[in-house]
Amino acid sequence: MRRKLLLGNWKMNKTPSQAVEFAKASKDLGKLARSNKVDMGVCVPYIDLVPVKKIIKKSLIVGAENCHYEDHGAYTGEVSIPMLKEIGIDWCIIGHSERRQYDGETSEKCNKKILALLKNGMVPVYCCGESLETYEEGKTKEFVKEQIIAGFKDVAYEDAAKVVIAYEPIWAIGTGKNASEEIAEDICKFIRNIIKDLYDRKVANKIRILYGGSVKPASVKGYLSQKDVDGALVGGASLEVESYKELLTSIL
Ligand code: PGA
Repeated sequence: MRRKLLLGNWKMNKTPSQAVEFAKASKDLGKLARSNKVDMGVCVPYIDLVPVKKIIKKSLIVGAENCHYEDHGAYTGEVSIPMLKEIGIDWCIIGHSERRQYDGETSEKCNKKILALLKNGMVPVYCCGESLETYEEGKTKEFVKEQIIAGFKDVAYEDAAKVVIAYEPIWAIGTGKNASEEIAEDICKFIRNIIKDLYDRKVANKIRILYGGSVKPASVKGYLSQKDVDGALVGGASLEVESYKELLTSIL
């Protein structure tokens, strides 16, 4: 049985003081999620990690939005996995489409990060998803398949199910334009089958696959009631405690 997972992605939002406000107001959220056996958390800008983690502790998952694959070195402006570990962070989003689009993040680079995170006992949340153009050309599946195969290169059998996959069609991110529940299920199921082919049925049944892209309190239940959708990666609706809480209560 795969545990449901709601993960927020704040992107480049919230100064440390705004982040602290959220963290303080989120106490009940963690309790509510836990008592209903839902894993829930927020991935936040680097500068917000320490203050948020200090308040939230283990009540919610607190994750980073990116990391570097090297432990240390001459990489100006980057943050390493040991730095994250030292402040108690063990989740990290990898390969979000905005990073792929604006920062030249390739699946090959994502793969290095995934391997480095797994080596450090951390949870990579690997994002994949196609552009509107690819979607309209009907090439979603071959595109996503390539991203998954490249991302999982050299990931060991015993580590594979520790990765969380997030399917986020780019055309549905921040646009208010949802992919239908059927599309989400079709692609998440397709991804699970790729994992089955790469590993086996046991790994495929265990790995968690999220849907992301304009998920709101009104739409979350529809996605999560799909057989192969185990949760959601949520941008806009995770920015305020009230709407994030509504997201949780609508799936309970
Ligand atoms: P959105 O963002 O929910 O605001 O569409 C999702 C994401 O980019 O992870």
